[in-house]
Amino acid sequence: MTKIYIHTFGCQMNEYDSERMEAAVLEDSGFTLVRNEEDADVIIVNTCSVRKHAEERAMSYVGRHVKDKKVIIAGCMAQSLKKDLKRQFQNIHAIVGTFRFDEIADIIKKGGIYTEEDHNAYSVNIKRAGKVRGFVAIMQGCDNFCSYCIVPYVRGREKSRAFAEIREEIEMLAKNGTKEITLLGQNVNSYNDKGMNFPALLKELAKIDGIMRLRFMTSHPKDLSDELIDTMASDKKLCKHFHLPVQSGSDKILKAMNRKYTTANYTEKINKIRRKIPGCAITTDILIGFPDETDADFQDTVRLLENIRFDDAYVFKYSQRPGTAAAKMNDDVSEENKKKRVNYILDLQKKISEDINNKLTGSEAEVLVYSVRSGEARAITDTNKRVYIKGVEDLTGQTLMVKIVEARAGALTGGVIK
Ligand code: 5AD
Ligand code: SF4
Repeated sequence: MTKIYIHTFGCQMNEYDSERMEAAVLEDSGFTLVRNEEDADVIIVNTCSVRKHAEERAMSYVGRHVKDKKVIIAGCMAQSLKKDLKRQFQNIHAIVGTFRFDEIADIIKKGGIYTEEDHNAYSVNIKRAGKVRGFVAIMQGCDNFCSYCIVPYVRGREKSRAFAEIREEIEMLAKNGTKEITLLGQNVNSYNDKGMNFPALLKELAKIDGIMRLRFMTSHPKDLSDELIDTMASDKKLCKHFHLPVQSGSDKILKAMNRKYTTANYTEKINKIRRKIPGCAITTDILIGFPDETDADFQDTVRLLENIRFDDAYVFKYSQRPGTAAAKMNDDVSEENKKKRVNYILDLQKKISEDINNKLTGSEAEVLVYSVRSGEARAITDTNKRVYIKGVEDLTGQTLMVKIVEARAGALTGGVIK
């Protein structure tokens, strides 16, 4: 049997795509999956293009393994660099882009370059192993063309998956023991399947037996509707958490980023969420060092973070991506300034997260246990906060009431109360 190892770089969509590739590999009787590179005959590298650093890591990973193994480059870099990768790694076995990875079993056998875009990799529902928390893509691609972002170029135009297909996939996962689903899309708020919009989709999916929780990412703030907030408030299965990337607190920078909202619009939406869904967690992405980000622009971002007080923020240092509108702008914030600003925001956010989480000490929360390792359960709250619980047996897949006894910026510690 040919032994396959899949290494994943990048976002949840890539993790999901890798899970689909794993399932496709396992369906073929000639293949088996292994847990590390050394044991593998074939290494599939699922790559990410969103930042330069992610690309460099994937390149160096491929460089390390391409001499002794059959290596396949899959995902976003395969889609964006196509044949160029072949020039760089002459021994590469195959290159498979973001539209074709459902054919991975065949591609492992044949080798070659598969980057045509006239195909939909999500059209087949492959049987997947059940994990307590599962991902399901509801759409592909992005039409927003934020000026810094390569995603529309590597994942193509926005295309919603059919409702029936999504339901079928979730029902299959529920049968295999999945309790919580994260719906994935670059901009879930613009989901539309023959008139069915995102709130309507959520309402329908919440009816599926066995699924206890539904969450989603990512929402574009410009498309976040009142209808969605009202829907979230109306059904307990819909988790109280929004990941709403703001990117910057400067209206000048937001305009140059082509984000199509202002800090005032954004803040108004946050206030509405907090009014209608008390206790709702809100997380964000911050992009630091976009072209022409002055000290004053940066201070606007600091103030926005202080005002809104996100539960958590993922902070990224801007890097130019080929083909994007921002690649034509001058990448003029020095590396030193970018680093300084990133560190400042990370420190600030850590304090805010700690403060928010500290206030939870002593409170009770319902958590879903998703794994147990050496006597410690890892569980997740409705609001997407990780909770560690010591001294429990294997309660994987169950919900528990816990009392929060300790808080840090990244996670909570809880004790079981019933
Ligand atoms: N450089 C750095 N970060 C980026 N992101 C998107 N494009 C870039 C880029 N060129 C960040 C954004 C986005 C997150 C997924 O990645 O903050 O929300
Ligand atoms: Fe990129 Fe903007 Fe689309 Fe997000 S919404 S994937 S940041 S273009």
